[in-house]
Amino acid sequence: TTYFIDGQFLSKEDVNISIDDRGYYFGDGVYEVIKVYNGSLFTAAEHIARLFQSAQKIKMTIPYSEQQLIDVAKELVKANEISTGHIYLQVTRGAAPRVHQFPDFSVPVVVTGYGLVNPRPTTNLEKGVAVKLVEDVRWLRCDIKSLNLLGNVLAKQEAYEEGCAEAIFVRDGIITEGSSSNLFGMKDGIVYTHPATNLILNGITRQVVLQLCEENGIPVVEKPFTPQEAFEMDELIITSTTAEVTPVIQLDDKEIGTGIPGPITKKLQAAFALRIP
Ligand code: PDD
Repeated sequence: TTYFIDGQFLSKEDVNISIDDRGYYFGDGVYEVIKVYNGSLFTAAEHIARLFQSAQKIKMTIPYSEQQLIDVAKELVKANEISTGHIYLQVTRGAAPRVHQFPDFSVPVVVTGYGLVNPRPTTNLEKGVAVKLVEDVRWLRCDIKSLNLLGNVLAKQEAYEEGCAEAIFVRDGIITEGSSSNLFGMKDGIVYTHPATNLILNGITRQVVLQLCEENGIPVVEKPFTPQEAFEMDELIITSTTAEVTPVIQLDDKEIGTGIPGPITKKLQAAFALRIP
């Protein structure tokens, strides 16, 4: 695997990251995952734009232009000979002795990345997955794609231990999103999803799906819904860069709809497939 570390493309053995990196001590940084299809980056500009927005929200300056980081991602695709897979990019607030407050602004941020061959989740896309409701105990800035993922990690593990592919967060009686995905529900031909507030990450795949709904004349209401309403949806899907449009066929121990991927889900999957480079 070829890695990107502050301007250089290196093999893993040659990577040298400081033990004082604030990503390691505090999770003090931000990241992105960008999908690669047939050797081409998918929605790269949107992901890189969000990386800069996340960095700005935590008062961190990235010493590259958006175009330069897109070029880094492209180079990682080439160097790792990725046909289908993804690129990971991360920016931390640099290496400095461990004190909570920011280091001096002369301390450079650390930009790293790698590319990974990773097939599309075809079985999940065709058959759907089971998910588990988990209490959303995360902080109130879930709009930032932060490296601090402990709430997400604990939730996903809880779901996995019950044989579920994803944890669905519930905060104050409403569903927010998945531990690494967004959730949509379909009822009587209308698509519902949590609005893009501070309580969720506004997924790039979420935004693509909203566009696909509009293009295909499927009405959308960006309004939160409750677990009770979710149990009664005709269809549920989770979306993310790696999960694409994955049908949810079971929520806790209840079957959703008829227990197989529904018609709107299939329509969105087909429309999504047409977007893939
Ligand atoms: N996760 N919500 C959360 C909390 C996420 O971590 C993600 C993505 C999403 C979906 O965003 P997008 O469609 O832009 O991938 C929503 C990535 C894939 C991850 O952490 O691996």
